[in-house]
Amino acid sequence: MSINNKNVLLGITGGIAAYKAPDLVRKLVALGANVRVVLTQSALEFVSPLALQAVSGNPVSDNLLDKDAEAAMGHIELARWADILLIAPATANFMAKLTHGLADDLLSTLCLATAAPIVIAPAMNQQMWHASATQQNVNVLRQRHVRILGPAAGEQACGDVGLGRMLEPQDIAHLLNEALPSKVLLGKKVMITAGPTQEAIDPVRYISNHSSGKMGYALAKAAQAMGAEVVLVSGPTNLVVPQAVTTVQVKSAEQMHQSVMEQVATCDIFIGCAAVADYRPAQTTPQKIKKNDQELTLTFVKNPDILSDVAHLQHPPFTLGFAAETQNVREYALSKLARKKLNMIAANDVSDSRIGFNSEQNALSVFWPGGEVTLAMADKQKLALQLLQLVSEQFK
Ligand code: C5P
Repeated sequence: MSINNKNVLLGITGGIAAYKAPDLVRKLVALGANVRVVLTQSALEFVSPLALQAVSGNPVSDNLLDKDAEAAMGHIELARWADILLIAPATANFMAKLTHGLADDLLSTLCLATAAPIVIAPAMNQQMWHASATQQNVNVLRQRHVRILGPAAGEQACGDVGLGRMLEPQDIAHLLNEALPSKVLLGKKVMITAGPTQEAIDPVRYISNHSSGKMGYALAKAAQAMGAEVVLVSGPTNLVVPQAVTTVQVKSAEQMHQSVMEQVATCDIFIGCAAVADYRPAQTTPQKIKKNDQELTLTFVKNPDILSDVAHLQHPPFTLGFAAETQNVREYALSKLARKKLNMIAANDVSDSRIGFNSEQNALSVFWPGGEVTLAMADKQKLALQLLQLVSEQFK
């Protein structure tokens, strides 16, 4: 996974850290990237387009409505040309525009027009970084799988000290080199289940499991970035559906089972990431159950095990399961691998409050027949790429 020979579109927005942009271009070029630069109007106040043209070896663009630039390489061509879109520095204002999908200049338009992954390196005053509006924008962008590099802490141009400095050019170039997935899943169809299921008791009540769906959605996005055609079968979540991923929304385990079984025969890889309810009420009453002075006893019946049913098909796809455990992680994961006839299992210790259910981070122990590896704590998007890299190696 490297930016060697890849097309990096560098967007520069108007912050004082923009003066480091020519150095960043040099670092990217040194790693073998083809770099094209787009500046916002306010970035032009901080850095010279001529310098950027000289170090990138390509013409720079700064205007959506420039007829000469559009005739040479129009904004849609530029958006398609990019393998990755890096915005460094990214100001608080630009992050807000990105969050709301504005397209009132060349760079914000490119962000909407490109299918390439977007990576941003924020740079701003520490108070602006901590402002709740900025933090809410950061959360929304993370949910949309925009990768956020930094910011670093330290002394700022305005004299403040704190979080908000742009990462150094060499660190950005290095992290970008790691972030770009290679297309190892090109031509493969991957199905992923994600989120919880809801099992109705009556029209207003259900039982469910803790699950935000973040890991499954991160896997869907990562598989798509690695070249796969992706089908995501999702239980109810608050997440934004990843771009270019076919998503089927379901509620109950039975609906999820049916959706999976209808399409799985055409898939090369199946990843069971959903927290499927093991049991459902034996009966769903058509009217709301009214409370009275008596105890209430419900009877539950077993739900189908979707992952196990897929793995036991006559011609199963490569199957990857998850195991959320609170103790004996290795032992339980290995027994699940064998019992469900899986090709691989990724286990996490949900008793560690820093990772798991609703957090942005996770850590995984991955087992397959004859091998195992530990993926250290990282954000779920990074972990998804690492896990799919392992899948692609074992799949071969
Ligand atoms: O047996 P256990 O629920 O611990 O196994 C977890 C794995 O099995 C996860 O990959 C989960 O998505 C999958 N699973 C399933 N259908 C069920 C229960 C679990 O696909 N009914």
